[in-house]
Order: sequence, then structure tokens, then C-alpha cells
Amino acid sequence: MNVKCSDCGAVADPLEICRCGGLPEFVLGDLRLDPVGLRRVVRERRASYEPLFASGVWRWRELLPAIPAAAIVSLAEGNVPLYPSEAGARYAGVDRLAYLHLGMNPTGSFKDLGMTVAISAAKAAGARAVVCASTGNTASSMAAYAARAGLDAYAIVPRGRVSDAKLAQMREYGAQLIEVDGSFDDAFASLQDVRDAAVVNSVNAYRIEGQKCAAFAILEARAWSVPDWVALPGGNLGNISAISKGFREALALGLIEKLPRIALVRAARGVDTTASAIAIGNPKSRNRASRALEHFNGIELEVSDDAILDAKAQIGREGIGCEPASAASLAGVRALRQSFDNLRMTDGIAPDADVVAILTGHVLKDARVPSKLAALAPQGDKGYVRR
Ligand code: F0G
Repeated sequence: MNVKCSDCGAVADPLEICRCGGLPEFVLGDLRLDPVGLRRVVRERRASYEPLFASGVWRWRELLPAIPAAAIVSLAEGNVPLYPSEAGARYAGVDRLAYLHLGMNPTGSFKDLGMTVAISAAKAAGARAVVCASTGNTASSMAAYAARAGLDAYAIVPRGRVSDAKLAQMREYGAQLIEVDGSFDDAFASLQDVRDAAVVNSVNAYRIEGQKCAAFAILEARAWSVPDWVALPGGNLGNISAISKGFREALALGLIEKLPRIALVRAARGVDTTASAIAIGNPKSRNRASRALEHFNGIELEVSDDAILDAKAQIGREGIGCEPASAASLAGVRALRQSFDNLRMTDGIAPDADVVAILTGHVLKDARVPSKLAALAPQGDKGYVRR
């Protein structure tokens, strides 16, 4: 696979930002595969006992950068559930809704899909250390995969803005923690202070390749029927770049015949959001996210903290749960459904829509955030408790 700058199209290095400032991206080029055969092979791999194919990423090897099998570092990521949710559909006001729960990955977030590829590539290239700036999930994932690969890991995080659970994961997996005063954006600017370490933020093109497999996971779980909408939270905007790339490639390969629309949900700015994972002022993948929104006839919207916490409580009371940033997906679907009602002239999600909401992180990732569940639960003890 070739690598090109996603902005200017120049030939690029998968780990280097282009001279024009654009980010490097792998291109499938004129790869031609029989879509029916590919679906079958992936299905057979899922059922096989080959350890590599216990990964929901590496089952898609033909569509990933070539990395020697011996260098591949996997924790059997990518085998996540698509939970149909009638209650969630009612809450949002749509006919059909399901949660793709990427929090059910080895380190509890979607980052594992990308990290298995980025760390494997670093190992294959002979790197000794890796580094990232993070609101917590990227760094937890990096720490685990680096430990598994025998690489040193440096996590640069904004002091006081990362949940205890994520910090605990980084320490548990032996990463060096570097706390900087300021925001995620300040942490990102400090990346250059760590020398001789491969950057595994989503500016690393290998990350995007792994994370694009979330699109394949949605499609496979739905027997290759394309939903009307895919909703996901956005922070640094790497994930929308990755998932849209997955859908675009599935279309180019003939695995599907149309694209879903995309709802990109961001936390309202200017407040200290409880969705700390997506509190990012200056997303590094802004350009490619904007292109994806255009290509997928998508909508970008902001949701309030209240809307996020309300949606989180809904997901919790369904027995599923997620971290606050993830609940932005459901909050966004609900808001876009309401805007359809209120302003028929404007765009939104129609009542008969078939929606997949992506949950990016596990409920235990951020336990500081107070649950609204108690407030929503029916009052009284239903007679089970003897007083
Ligand atoms: N949801 C969660 C739980 C996240 O941790 C992140 C990003 C996002 C959504 C947004 O994804 O950045 O690709 O648009 N977390 C990064 C981190 C910033 O450092 O863990 P994105």
C-alpha cells in the first residue's frame, strides 16, 4: 500500500506530517479483491483457531499495511458487540438503533484497534520506544501494547484532566507518565520533547488503518446491510477519519453499495466538560474530518454536558454503560432527531432511521463522573426491602 498526504496528495512517510502540514494516509490504490470471497475468508478466520485471527483487526489483513506476522502485537482486539437497543431507539426517537461498543476492547476503548497496528509497525521497524499525547485512552492502550511488545512507552497527559482509571492503567502497564500543565493541545505540543520515540497518536497513519476496521465490524454484524446513520463522538477527529475510510474502502471494494450518513458529535466548547476524553480545542485531523463529513453528507453538532450525562444514564440503565464521552453519540442522535422535528426545513435524523451509535469507551473508564441513574430510577423500593 502507498502512503500519501491526505491534504496535498504528495507521497508521504506514514509517521511524518507532510511539508504542507497534512497528515499521511495509506491508500488501497487499485487493490482488487472479490468481495464475496473476502467476506467468506474473514468469516472463516473468525471461526479459526489461528491466534492472529482472534483479532478483529488482523482478520482484515489484506486491507492493512503489510507487517510481518512475527512483529504483530495483538491482544485479540476488535471483537466487540453490536447491541440492538429498543430502549435507546425510543430514547432517541428513531425506529432502529444499535450500539457498537468499542469500549469492550482489551484496554476498554476503541484505541486498541489502531494501537495494535501502530505498535506492530513500530516493532517491525525496530523502534525501542513510543510516545503519545493523550486524554487517557490512547495512552492506556499504548501502554498495554508497548508492554506486550517490549517497548518503552511515554504518556504525555494534561495534569488533573485524566480519569484515575486511565492513569491506573498507564501505571499498571509500566508507561512513563509525563504530566503537563494545560490542555490536551499543550500535551500534544510537548511531543517533541521526547526524543527517539515513535509517535502513536492518530497522526500516525497505522493507527487509522486499524481503527477503520470498526466500519467493517458494523457491517459484518449487520450481515453487510448499511445503516442510514453512524453517530460517533469526536475529539482529535482521528476516529471519524478512520471509520469513514473503512466505509469508503468497503464501497470501493464492492462490499457495500452505498455509504451511511455520519453524525459527528462534539462536546460543547468553552466549558470544562465531563466528557474529558473529547475536550480538544484544536483537532489534528480537522481537514480530513471535514472532507469525510462532506463525502458522507454528514452533520457535525455539539451537545451539552447535561445532554451527555442524560444519554449516559440511559445507556447505563440498559445494562450496557459507557464512559461520558461515548454517550455523546446517543445524545447527538437524539438532538438530530429533534432538529428534524422542529425544523423540517433543516437537516436531521428522520424518525424511521436505522442508526448505529458508536460507544468508544467502557463504563469503568471514568467513575468520577456522577451517575444520573439514581435520579432517573423509579422511586421507592418496590416492596423488596423489608423496613
Ligand atoms: N471517545 C473517547 C472515549 C476518547 O477517548 C476519544 C479520544 C474520542 C472519543 C474521540 O476520538 O480523538 O479520534 O476524535 N481520546 C483521545 C485520547 C484524544 O487521548 O485518548 P478522536
